[in-house]
Amino acid sequence: AMPGDSVDKENMITCTAPVNIAVIKYWGKRNEDLILPINSSLSVTLHQDQLKTTTTVATSRSFQEDRIWLNGKEEDISHPRLQSCLREIRRLARKRRNNAGPGFDATALSHKVHICSINNFPTAAGLASSAAGFACLVYTLARVFGVEGELSGIARQGSGSACRSMYGGFVQWIMGQQEDGKDSLAQQVEPESHWPELRILVLVASAERKPVGSTSGMQTSVQTSSLLKHRAESVVPGRMVEMTEAVRRKDFAAFAELTMKDSNQFHATCLDTYPPIFYLNNVSHRIISMVHRYNRHYGETRVAYTFDAGPNAVIFTLQQHIPEFVQMVQYFFPPEINGGQFIKGLSVDQAPLSEELKQAVGLEPMPKGINYIISTKAGPGPCVVEDPAQHLLGSDGLPK
Ligand code: DP6
Repeated sequence: AMPGDSVDKENMITCTAPVNIAVIKYWGKRNEDLILPINSSLSVTLHQDQLKTTTTVATSRSFQEDRIWLNGKEEDISHPRLQSCLREIRRLARKRRNNAGPGFDATALSHKVHICSINNFPTAAGLASSAAGFACLVYTLARVFGVEGELSGIARQGSGSACRSMYGGFVQWIMGQQEDGKDSLAQQVEPESHWPELRILVLVASAERKPVGSTSGMQTSVQTSSLLKHRAESVVPGRMVEMTEAVRRKDFAAFAELTMKDSNQFHATCLDTYPPIFYLNNVSHRIISMVHRYNRHYGETRVAYTFDAGPNAVIFTLQQHIPEFVQMVQYFFPPEINGGQFIKGLSVDQAPLSEELKQAVGLEPMPKGINYIISTKAGPGPCVVEDPAQHLLGSDGLPK
């Protein structure tokens, strides 16, 4: 900004957006540029009290260029996916201006934008941040440019999974059939209030190295895995129907079994990729065993796991099982840091673990296998932050 030139508060908006975790996984594109998937997917939006992206967008006639800062560092705005989102929002804004009467203020359209975005969780934890990031970017830009309505089709062009972060609760991304992708959109299946007993734990596993990124990983899978083709054509369509039904009925056992099977099949397609891709590590494998032995001990599916393109486990269970399950995790993965720090977002009463359960699970404890646990639940979609003190950009249009 020029000296003395300040950004009007009216031209600055701050919003937040959530992370989502797929229970029927998206893996593979039929169109790389438009980001069109080879199968539909279904996810749970996580609560923003624990995990969220915050983004401020400002416009001003004094800005010379579009600029972006991510977690405090200026990044290259020419990134094709960023450019897609900016272009599509401006396109919608122009359409709206052309349809609106003469009173409509569209000055922002001729201005450059400054974008500043931060996550409230460490990027190093390897939690998918691009979904929340692109959802937040698109939602905030839309507010700044006065664009309303369906925005998941634009978020999708930032990152496929981002389209599901445009809604709260339980969300499906319908793959669509059209060449132009206009029908490849996210849709809420049930709101976040639908299943209040459902709880989610993110077990942040210590990783030795950075895994292959989703974008390039799924490209190789589409090119080489016949299992992926089979999954997309013959398995996922039926699972989408079953999963939607399980969510609607709040049938935990059905939801949990489908979630685990779909995670396992996704990782099987990674192993079927040539050369193979490994996202699960020793810690992940032990978590899988622990969950199955826990469920077998009770003769009932009380807990489910799911894993994305990394070793962290996301656990689903019902509220009543949380204290015992967390105790068991702490017993089999003795933490480096004390209990209060180990579990974020939860205070668990220290009920002792039964000897029968320890025996039934029968794993060798693995110290420091899990760095910490984030305890959360289903939550709402993107929101506007009304308090101007929360803006990430100052009146000079630069990060505060
Ligand atoms: C394993 O959405 O990160 O998390 O569309 O290339 O940006 P791009 O990929 P991305 O892939 C997510 C893959 C997944 C499964 C899922 O979230 O459905």
